[in-house]
Amino acid sequence: MLDDASAQVTIRTTRGPLDAADAAAVRALADRAAAADGVAPLSEQPLLWLSEPEAPVVHLSAIRDDALVGYAQLDVGSQAATRAELVVDPGHRRLGVGRALLAGAFTETATVPGRALRVWAHGDLPAARRFAQDRGMPVVRELLQMRLDLAARPTTAPTLPAGVQVRQFEPGRDEDAWRRVNSRAFAHHPEQGRMTSADLRARESEPWFDPAGFLLAERDGILLGSVWTKVHPAGEHGPEPVGEIYVVGVDPDAQGLGLGRALTALGLDHLAARGLSAAILYTDADNTVAVHTYESAGFVRSAVDVMFGSNTPSSAAGVTMGA
Ligand SMILES: CC(C)(COP(=O)(O)OP(=O)(O)OC[C@H]1O[C@@H](n2cnc3c(N)ncnc32)[C@H](O)[C@@H]1OP(=O)(O)O)[C@@H](O)C(=O)NCCC(=O)NCCS
Repeated sequence: MLDDASAQVTIRTTRGPLDAADAAAVRALADRAAAADGVAPLSEQPLLWLSEPEAPVVHLSAIRDDALVGYAQLDVGSQAATRAELVVDPGHRRLGVGRALLAGAFTETATVPGRALRVWAHGDLPAARRFAQDRGMPVVRELLQMRLDLAARPTTAPTLPAGVQVRQFEPGRDEDAWRRVNSRAFAHHPEQGRMTSADLRARESEPWFDPAGFLLAERDGILLGSVWTKVHPAGEHGPEPVGEIYVVGVDPDAQGLGLGRALTALGLDHLAARGLSAAILYTDADNTVAVHTYESAGFVRSAVDVMFGSNTPSSAAGVTMGA
């Protein structure tokens, strides 16, 4: 049975990039939700993929009275699982919009037999937890945000393994080597190991990109690992600008030498030298080696994102699928 509100929602499916106006409407919707919820509903990668022609995604737009009232982005780049992020306009919640988007996500996921659906909820908000639980989707992964007070950090000079030298990333020259080591270091990571050259180029074009905060560790000219930092402007993670240890990766052949710890320390030195007072990073909660490394550098857990998962399609009631 359709209730009146859900019957009026149309889910529009877009394969390929959104045009500039539609992408801007999604960003504005995400901003309204972030202001209401205190946490951004879409992470960096879906925002970069809104208008990226090579993105492996399907866009679901929930339209009511010609206005965008909800949005879901489905990463369909893996045969095993669709990964989704979804958001409903704060002024249109508890009306079935989220349910309609989720039903659309299940329909799209089911086009590949046996593929599972995974949905991220940033900040582990009570509404998202209830929404997923009521649809039989348990928590399947937890991503920790960890935070460090840079002023209070112990300042011991990082020790690099013998023969290892550190230099800045050079755009136009280092992309292929960096991607090779990144995919080896994150071979088992569902998102990070899949970074394409288009994904890397998109980040290099972002206003925050700064090669001075992207350091490569080499021995005899061979790349062994890197640390990439990012600075978030005031307002994104609280009233002050905040630094992020964005990616630390060490080639499997060079792991166990203390390189990860040294690179993390060099990244933090760079952020402290920029005058920042706090640093954050994200890591899977079950990556005990990484969590231990960051805790020993002084990081503490500050927030959590959860991923809900299911193989079972929920009811598609109330959805009109449009092109
Ligand atoms: C979670 C979210 C997508 C729900 O969207 P919505 O359009 O309000 O959800 P719907 O109206 O379709 O479905 C509502 C069902 O979800 C659950 N639910 C949603 N919000 C809830 C809340 N605030 N408290 C309790 N249950 C809630 C209920 O089971 C509800 O069914 P009911 O209204 O019949 O009781 C929305 O709150 C949102 O955009 N949150 C911020 C982004 C986010 O957390 N995304 C991740 C989602 S897993």
